[in-house]
Amino acid sequence: MFCQMTCWILVVVAILAVRGLHGLDNGLGLTPPMGWLTWERFRCNMDCDRDPDNCISEHLIKAMADIMAANGYRDAGYEYVIIDDCWLGPERDTNGRLVPDPNRFPSGIKNLSAYVHSKNLKFGIYQDFGTKTCGGFPGSEFYMQTDAETFADWGVDYLKFDGCNSNLYDFPSGYEAMGFFLNKTGRSIFYSCEWPFYKIVSGLQVDFAKVRKTCNLWRNYYDVQDSWSSVLDIVNFWGSNSKIFTKYAGPGGWNDPDMIILGNFGLSYEEERVQMAMWAILAAPLIMSNDLRHIRSSSKALLLNRNLIAINQDKLGIQGILLQKQNGIQIWSRDLSFNRTAVAFLNENSDGMPRFLSFSLVDLKLTSSTYNFTEAFDMKTNILVTRQRPLKIKVNPHGINLYIAKEMHL
Ligand code: GLA
Repeated sequence: MFCQMTCWILVVVAILAVRGLHGLDNGLGLTPPMGWLTWERFRCNMDCDRDPDNCISEHLIKAMADIMAANGYRDAGYEYVIIDDCWLGPERDTNGRLVPDPNRFPSGIKNLSAYVHSKNLKFGIYQDFGTKTCGGFPGSEFYMQTDAETFADWGVDYLKFDGCNSNLYDFPSGYEAMGFFLNKTGRSIFYSCEWPFYKIVSGLQVDFAKVRKTCNLWRNYYDVQDSWSSVLDIVNFWGSNSKIFTKYAGPGGWNDPDMIILGNFGLSYEEERVQMAMWAILAAPLIMSNDLRHIRSSSKALLLNRNLIAINQDKLGIQGILLQKQNGIQIWSRDLSFNRTAVAFLNENSDGMPRFLSFSLVDLKLTSSTYNFTEAFDMKTNILVTRQRPLKIKVNPHGINLYIAKEMHL
């Protein structure tokens, strides 16, 4: 039925060589994906007896799909509803096909995806490149073609493909093989990979050009946790490693700093603003992991802020970079369409006092003589900045100010 690891990798590499195909050609991810995913908020909760509303189950997925459709999330662009790990039963069936846990997914995945589609949303699922998922469920190693066909048959639109329990040296050919089998199904399936993350944290080099040719999205760093320190750690990693992977982001493929955690327990209002604004600067996926049934109105308003989403989804798809960091103040810049630049000022300091700051156009690497800075959360306040007149702002601790700068011809 199936050949061993080395065998199928050789077969796929041979097919790719003969066809002269080298990359992902699924037409997806022209802007960073937006949606909702179980993992950060609901983890591997399988205790439906004690916690029926929060365990990983079809009930949870349907509840989120209902809210995304009814409460404005879908209309704002959040389109994928994705189950992460812990949806599987312990064994494959006698044909080698994946089987969801029958108690938590009694209607089966095909019916669940049909439900999600009936809400005009797209459906995503998780699997792992190795012998087992990170949670210990059957992985795709030796079964990639079968699993790709199963996902297509079930109406899956998005695959998050993890890298636990596998050989890191097999990643380039193995992830490429899964991409090949997904494409071969003829169904458009967004392909999210964790390949760079496992290599980077093991001190290994990553061929990002190849990653980009293979995947629509790729995780580069540790899992986000429900805390400010985790969000800041990710932002700092992105700031220090811009030269390594920033240039590979663009329409069709994106660096992934992990889920949006607004609406959970760990971030203050200011910190939630930071995550939304920074994920916009980073051209990062807006994949929420939170409980949309119980969410503060302030968090919901940030998640649905169309001005931030528009920056995130800017059609040019240029990922922002860190311009400078001094005394706990980071300045980030992202080039946008229509000759605009998004500029963010992030205050990492925990001293509790807002900082008064002043920046020249030279500090912000803006080369013309006059700019209009529009505050980007509300798009209501405008500030004129010239060579003689610096930008003067006040930034809250653990806070961010975000502007769109546009050259002015007076
Ligand atoms: C890894 C991934 C997470 C999540 C879990 C599931 O840790 O990085 O995003 O998918 O596995 O077990």
